[in-house]
Formats: sequence, C-alpha cells, structure tokens
Amino acid sequence: MLPKQRILTGHRTTGPRHIGHLVGTLLNWVKLQYEYECFFLVADLHVLTTDFEHPDRIHPNTLDTVIDWLAAGIDPQRSTLILQSAVPDHAVLSLLLGNLVTVARLERVPTFKEQVRELNLSPSLGLFNYPVLQSADILIYKAQVVPVGEDQLPHVELSRELARRFNQLYGETFPEPQAILSNQPRLPGTDNRTMHNSYGNCIYLKDSPEETTRKVMQMYTDPTRIHATDPGHIEGNPVFTYMDVFNPNVEEVEDLKQRYQSGRIGDVAVKRRLAEVLNRFLGPLRERRAALAAHPQDIVQLLREGTQQAQSVTHSTMEEVMGKMGLSMALSFNDKSFLVP
Ligand code: TRP
Repeated sequence: MLPKQRILTGHRTTGPRHIGHLVGTLLNWVKLQYEYECFFLVADLHVLTTDFEHPDRIHPNTLDTVIDWLAAGIDPQRSTLILQSAVPDHAVLSLLLGNLVTVARLERVPTFKEQVRELNLSPSLGLFNYPVLQSADILIYKAQVVPVGEDQLPHVELSRELARRFNQLYGETFPEPQAILSNQPRLPGTDNRTMHNSYGNCIYLKDSPEETTRKVMQMYTDPTRIHATDPGHIEGNPVFTYMDVFNPNVEEVEDLKQRYQSGRIGDVAVKRRLAEVLNRFLGPLRERRAALAAHPQDIVQLLREGTQQAQSVTHSTMEEVMGKMGLSMALSFNDKSFLVP
C-alpha cells in the first residue's frame, strides 16, 4: 500500500469558529483525516499580522478554535494539531524563503493588495510576509495537499513557486503542494454579506440554542416581501440557503419553498423552523464542545503533544534546508542536538 499523502492546512485564529467554517472547511477536514496524514495548524503568528495590538485575545481564541475543531470531529488520535508560535522553525524557514522571492512578486499577491486597500495605512513587513510564512507552514512538512478556501489559492500558488525555486537552486527537496477546494459553496452571514468575525453576522459553534434562535429570527430574508401573502424569493435568500444546507429532509424543504414562493407561509414561520433545524444539527456538536471546554488543560496538553510531533518533522526539514543553503556550520555547532525536540 502506498503511504498516505500529507495534508497541511490551518486557520488564522481570529475568533471562535462559526457555522460557515463548519460547513466550508471543518466537515471537509474531518473526512480528509481518513484518507490523508493530516496536520492542522493554529496560525497564531498569522493573527499578529493584523491583530498585534490585542495580545489578550490570542490565547482565548486559540483555545476556542481548537475546541471547535475537536467538537466538529477533528480526531487528535489520527491528526496532528500544531500551535504555530510554538514551532519557531516556521519563522526561520519563512526568513530563508524570503530570499527566493522578490518584493515585486509579493506586491502582486491579491490578498495583500486587498488588505492594503482596506487598512488604509502603510502595511507592515509582517503583513507583507504573510504568504511567505504560509508557504513555510506548508513546505516545512513537505505537504503534498493543501485544502483551502478560494481566497487562499494565491498563497498556495506562492508556495508552489517557492518549492520550485528552492529545488532548482539546491536540489530536489520540496514537493509542489496541490491546493484542493471544498465543494461546499460559501455560507452567507445572517445579514447576507460574507460571514466574517468582524461583521457581527456570524452564528458561532459556541452560541447557545437561544442565541442561535435569536440570530435566526433576525436574519435577512427577501426585502421585497412585505406581507406573508406576497410571493417570496428563494434565490439569494440566506434563510433558504441555510435550510438547504442544514435540513436533511429534502421534501420538507421543497414544500416550504413552494409555500414561500406562492405566499402561503410567512418569514417568521420559516425562520422558526430553520432555528429548530439548525439547533438539531448543532446539538451533538454542542455537547462535545461543552465536555471539551470543561477541561481546558487537556486541550493545552493535546496541543503540546501535537506540537512536539510536528517538531520532529520540522527539525529534520530544517537540517536539510540549512545544509543545502550553506548554513551547515551552524548545524555542526548544534552537534545533532538540533534533532532532539
Ligand atoms: N491563511 C490561512 C487563513 O487565513 C491560515 C493558514 C496559515 C494556512 N498557514 C496555512 C492555511 C497553511 C493553509 C496552509 O485561513
């Protein structure tokens, strides 16, 4: 049997995970665990590229994220969870790879251009380096496969270029990582914009059933519909987008759609039903979440173990990379203790 291919992917832990993360990435990761050797990265160094003024948020957000991942079905027996800031090799490789890419190339990264426009201030070196650090995250594990959202494709593309460039200069070292997209369309936020931590339009995995119901009852629907007897629109209506994703009863969904379109059911009734459906869907996940959140020390321990496993991989990659780049004298100082985590 061929050895499993290796996956490296992760999240920038800017807040607790929401249902968009769940259907967009987490449920996909859970499946991939059975086909690939998976490394899941808590990208807290990447958080600092925008949130360096809020150090107090990093630790709670890391815990929340890992608890959400586990509650969604990430299995630490199968997969390795890594805390990025605990593995300094990521930062060192990022520094070394920085020599193999030009400023002009990084200025063309679309996510960078977008953020500079949004920030409206002069970007930091850290933000500029974002895709190089992400490339280091991937290459340091010699990952072949990187499941990501569409917005991250330019970063995976850069990691491929860096792998090629490195191999060309120093000999075959890194596989060219392949991005894979999840086939789920993006879930809109409760206000029908993109679901985003900073927009206040998220339903979080940690929300209570009551909170979830409250958010559903306030959701954006069809703005052209004034009375429950007006014909309603299904397309672009997030209530029905959610209904399609979370209600396994296809016949019921069809019936609700027909009644909505012909003005035979009101928004309130549809939303009530959606709140029930969503709370049922999230029920088992919430139970697992509560059990996990009761023992934060166990979460820290899991991260510690995963991080140690990760380091045995990163140390051997760094030894190879530093040697090939001519830094072998530094390696000899360490007298192989470099390899001991
Ligand atoms: N940039 C990714 C995000 O915003 C997080 C991330 C960091 C990542 N390093 C990675 C994703 C490596 C895939 C591979 O979600």
